[in-house]
Amino acid sequence: MAQSPDQYFDELYKADTDLERVNASIQAAGMPDISVAPGYGRLLTFLVSLSKARSILEIGALGGYSGICLARGLPTEGKLVSLELRQEYADIAKANMASSGLGHFVDYRVGDASASIARLREEGARFDFFFIDADKENYPHYLEECILLANEGAIIAADNTLLRGKTIDEARQGPSVLAIRHFNRTIAQDPRLTGVHLPAYDGLALAQIRTI
Ligand SMILES: C[S@@+](CC[C@H](N)C(=O)[O-])C[C@H]1O[C@@H](n2cnc3c(N)ncnc32)[C@H](O)[C@@H]1O
Repeated sequence: MAQSPDQYFDELYKADTDLERVNASIQAAGMPDISVAPGYGRLLTFLVSLSKARSILEIGALGGYSGICLARGLPTEGKLVSLELRQEYADIAKANMASSGLGHFVDYRVGDASASIARLREEGARFDFFFIDADKENYPHYLEECILLANEGAIIAADNTLLRGKTIDEARQGPSVLAIRHFNRTIAQDPRLTGVHLPAYDGLALAQIRTI
């Protein structure tokens, strides 16, 4: 069978030893293989760099794959705050960031992301770039929280907007699917946002917060 477009483009890029190390550590630890797709990882680096973001909030760290992609786009004084539910995942992500020479960028906050976000708001934290990639039921909530934590013109990216096809299958009406449909409509229609949806891999949403 012919390659998919995603496979075709992925194979044009040379091997990335830092990201291969992340994938190997995820496999060795028996963690789920649900890191962001390679092409979207490259896009995250590109967008962080292009937007000149200096502060990033990542929601969902897993083994640090997207953390590496995000941090690669930061300037030397940049900062990445990464929220992760599970301590053992955050430990692996932290080790992978350090092995990639990016450990100084990242501050892991372990626990439920909603609680971590509430603390960030109390601290008066603000961010230029957001990557939402945790529990899907909470995407609409995370989007609202990101808007509240955003600097002017901030960018929001969110992975898995297609939920492996469930989003566009009318028969699927579970809580994650309903939440993602609501989230996707908000990205497309909310007057506070300029949104765009990319349908490659498992779908990626991008939005820039409009300046008033
Ligand atoms: C899809 S994975 C993240 C992948 C990662 N962004 C990457 O591309 O390398 C989702 C992560 O979100 C975490 N997670 C799930 N629910 C969460 C919650 N309520 N608060 C914080 N993290 C959560 C999971 O433990 C998992 O590590």
